[in-house]
Amino acid sequence: MRLIDSHCHLNLKEFNGDVDNIVKRALCAGVKKMVVVGTDLNDSFKALELAHKYDSIFAAIGIHPHNTEAVTESDYQRLRALAGDRKIAAYGEIGLDFYRNHSPKSLQKREFARQLNLAAELKLPVIIHDREAHQEVYDIIVAEEGYRNGGVIHCFSADITWARRFVDLGFVISIPGTVTFPRSQMQKEVAEQLSLDDILIETDAPFLTPVPFRGRRNEPAYVEYVAREIAGLRNLDPDEIALVTARNCERVFHLDG
Ligand code: NI
Repeated sequence: MRLIDSHCHLNLKEFNGDVDNIVKRALCAGVKKMVVVGTDLNDSFKALELAHKYDSIFAAIGIHPHNTEAVTESDYQRLRALAGDRKIAAYGEIGLDFYRNHSPKSLQKREFARQLNLAAELKLPVIIHDREAHQEVYDIIVAEEGYRNGGVIHCFSADITWARRFVDLGFVISIPGTVTFPRSQMQKEVAEQLSLDDILIETDAPFLTPVPFRGRRNEPAYVEYVAREIAGLRNLDPDEIALVTARNCERVFHLDG
């Protein structure tokens, strides 16, 4: 199998001192590339540090909606200063989270709009986090022309109609390990019905561990189980799901090779 984990957080403390092992296990499982995604200034730097250390790792930099209350102008200046680094594949994750509301909604919206424009300035595709805010995320992307360099709606949690709307804007849709859960009917429907060329797969490790490892810490090696689930739903070979989603990821993030 040739797989890419389009979204993981090996930059978080859950992986402290363990990244060597995690990367080795991923490579053994056929995961050739991983995108390590930032959620604040410090872990964006950490993502880039890992990308410089490991050939198979690429970085995304950005401020997660949870952390927009604490963000400062100088944080953005420091992110902007990273522009041009070859191992930065995307800007993110950015967006809106109206489920947990760790930051006030108005701030989340303002910083999302601002970061869509920063991503455009840096000519980077975007990684979008959308939790119970589909319409607002969509409206802000349209208003700010946040589709200019493409990108992905990660951990997609809306229905097939919404998936197609975002695809029409030029985005791809990323399916996480929760698609293996028996009750994830809507996610299974998206994974089954959307054109395969518009789908990425991800772990969001250390979160959202798929069956059969549910309850443990997630890691990129387990992205295989997402590919297998989608293969089952579409009655296709898991190798084909792995290969096509890997190519999609390389296309969207302009990963070499
Ligand atoms: Ni994430």
